[in-house]
Amino acid sequence: MSEARKRVGVLISGRGSNMAALIEAARAADYPAEIALVISNRPDAAGLETAAKQGIATRVVDHKQFESRNDFEAELYEVLARARIDIVCLAGFMRVLTPSFVERWRGRMLNIHPSLLPALKGLNTHARALATGVKMHGCTVHFVVPELDSGPIILQEPVPVLEGDSEEKLAARVLAAEHRIYPAALRLVAEGKAGRG
Ligand code: GAR
Repeated sequence: MSEARKRVGVLISGRGSNMAALIEAARAADYPAEIALVISNRPDAAGLETAAKQGIATRVVDHKQFESRNDFEAELYEVLARARIDIVCLAGFMRVLTPSFVERWRGRMLNIHPSLLPALKGLNTHARALATGVKMHGCTVHFVVPELDSGPIILQEPVPVLEGDSEEKLAARVLAAEHRIYPAALRLVAEGKAGRG
């Protein structure tokens, strides 16, 4: 990749704490990427206000305003292309993207998932970790491929499950790790050190 800072688009659906961690990291002068745009598929996502307060451009592409998934994704692609986005970071973005959209961003789209993949793909990972009795849980940043929660892994951080953990306590411990590895993984990708996905 070239030496210019990569232009990153962050896709959110809600709180946006991982997005905030990326914005914070990208403030450093030596960080190889800038957060150029935050897009939410939900108009009420709290992360939109957080981003705007940080002076980051925001857009809503509300999936409910489109007749089909393809129309929604066509607009999403247009908005990203117009902003000259190099890398897309999914950060709590809760829409499944079609294979054709994913392929257009192959090697340039990252996701953060709250488990040590390939364990616990899908939703409710913290409750499932507690129910299965695993002692080690964690989080993963990976390249996005058409199959859900399955692309090449960029970084992971293990997080212990402690005696007496509730879902909330475990989620908070994992979230703190997410905020460490997402900026670190984006740095690797922006510097061309994470493989091609
Ligand atoms: C994070 O824990 C992220 O790993 C998870 O949603 C949360 C979003 O929080 N993502 C998924 O479950 C994706 N399937 P945030 O909006 O505060 O970053």
